[in-house]
Amino acid sequence: MCGIVGYIGQKNTKEILLSGLKELEYRGYDSAGIAVLQEGSFASYKAVGKLVNLEEKTKEFTTEGFALGIGHTRWATHGKPTELNAHPHLGEKSYVVHNGIIENYAELKKELQTNGVTFLSQTDTEVIVHQFEKNQKTSKNSFEAFAKTIKELHGAYAILLATKAEEETLFFAKHGSPLLIGINSVDEKYFASSDTPLIGHCTSVSYLEDGDYGYVTPKEIALFDKNGVKKEARFSALSQNKLLAQKEGYRFFMEKEIYEQSVVIADTLMGRVSESEIIFDELDALLFEGINEIKLCACGTSYHSAMSASYLFERYAKIKTSIEVASEFRYREPIMTKDTLFVAISQSGETADTLETLKMAKAAGLKTLVICNVDNSSMVRLADASILTRAGIEKGVASTKAFATQITVFWMLALYTAKLRDSLNKEQIASHIATLREVPSHVKVSDEMHERIKRLSKRYLHGHGFFFIGRDIFYPLALEGALKLKEISYLHAEGYPAGEMKHGPIALADPELFTIALLPKHLHYEKAKSNVEELSARDSTICAISQLPFEKADDFIEISPCEHYMLEFFEMMVALQLLSLEISIRLGNDVDMPRNLAKSVTVE
Ligand code: M6R
Repeated sequence: MCGIVGYIGQKNTKEILLSGLKELEYRGYDSAGIAVLQEGSFASYKAVGKLVNLEEKTKEFTTEGFALGIGHTRWATHGKPTELNAHPHLGEKSYVVHNGIIENYAELKKELQTNGVTFLSQTDTEVIVHQFEKNQKTSKNSFEAFAKTIKELHGAYAILLATKAEEETLFFAKHGSPLLIGINSVDEKYFASSDTPLIGHCTSVSYLEDGDYGYVTPKEIALFDKNGVKKEARFSALSQNKLLAQKEGYRFFMEKEIYEQSVVIADTLMGRVSESEIIFDELDALLFEGINEIKLCACGTSYHSAMSASYLFERYAKIKTSIEVASEFRYREPIMTKDTLFVAISQSGETADTLETLKMAKAAGLKTLVICNVDNSSMVRLADASILTRAGIEKGVASTKAFATQITVFWMLALYTAKLRDSLNKEQIASHIATLREVPSHVKVSDEMHERIKRLSKRYLHGHGFFFIGRDIFYPLALEGALKLKEISYLHAEGYPAGEMKHGPIALADPELFTIALLPKHLHYEKAKSNVEELSARDSTICAISQLPFEKADDFIEISPCEHYMLEFFEMMVALQLLSLEISIRLGNDVDMPRNLAKSVTVE
């Protein structure tokens, strides 16, 4: 949610900022801007909409020799996506970019306004630069003013600030939103919200911790912790593998990511399955000692994978499992007992609500585990243990391969727990493992299936809504199918347990109500089928996804023959992803950057 970059050094500052923002554009694309300080004066450019508008605006602008710059790509929180609200925000002689939310901004703003400061934007961010300049007047140097300012801010932030008063210094602070410093052997410094903008420029990165702040010059990093104590920045090597983040001939990243699922699931399994055992080197069996309940907490798609996991944990590991939407959990004064293992699930590892629940669980003394796709993310660093999904960089805002790898990890984890709890025997686990190994081939997209869905999608571009229905673990999959469609097609879609239809929703059934029915052969087939027949009898248009032909369906997406319901789950997952993708493409939408959304929700 918003991305920031910074650079200080001799190279082409404009290009470094713009290419960095390109890598972060998935975090927000309501507007973008840069400010560059060179030879005593600032140049600043902002544009509403995608980064290409800023690139167009800065075409004639060049930077040469030593310069210092900051950049921002925005997902609007306070104030509409206008040019005035775009970052960087200007004071009298300083610029700031910010990712996060300043919760006490109204208070600070009021006070500044009383003292004659004029605000140009409606953002919370603008107070930072004015507060800093106010503090400059009473401080012995700009750093002291910056440190004072940081202490006055409440909320979440990653901040970069440049001022004419210190032409060779870039100020930074991090609390709750991610910020990294990148270095190499040259006298220059880089900043970014994630490591991708730094690939190709930096050899090492330091992931700042909450409460960290300080300044950099081309030669120096001065880093302080939340108590103002000076500390050393800890650097680790930066992997230079950017290849996975390119589109490689696919129309959209989402499409590429759907096609990649076979490979990334195989990666996720690699080294973790033997003939009859699940091996998680990253876990200590003690993590489960004294545990009588698992609590899974997440948002969005990760919540749907948590919900799916709850069926697996209870069915196979025979352990009580509860699921929580992070944004609800954090404010409802939940009861947390120490015999509960708290599991946070997140693709990014930075989702503000999920991160907060993890902090709450830790504070309550629970053992914590995170299932995450981004190593070194805030959640991975915070939890007692972590299992990384190996989905690679996921760029499409609509999550696909991250979900697929989360489900894979959960299936393995349910078996791992089943072994610890003796709820499955060796043969049963070995049989599951043999099935797990088949998953990569079942998520391979066949030309035939993709072509079929492409053709069929033209019938689903209108109507007054979609029901996605399924039973058991196919219910969370139905929710996920509906979320995918909503996110990228802007069509109204709801996921329901198939058995719930006659408790109200069936009242909506008519030919303009499309039902996407998940009908697995190996799990409650007859029950789900009768629910679909009831909808068909009331004239809803039915698109059935199954390996068994269904005569009542208006449309039928046939999946490959499978001998296990989990393989049907993965087959149907791909069909649902492709259906949303093709509907969205036909509607002319930007699949990878759908309106109003951002990849990583780092504000609550
Ligand atoms: O990074 P996270 O998994 O924590 O993100 C959670 C949700 O924001 C995310 O899954 C969102 O719902 C996606 N856009 C779904 O496609």
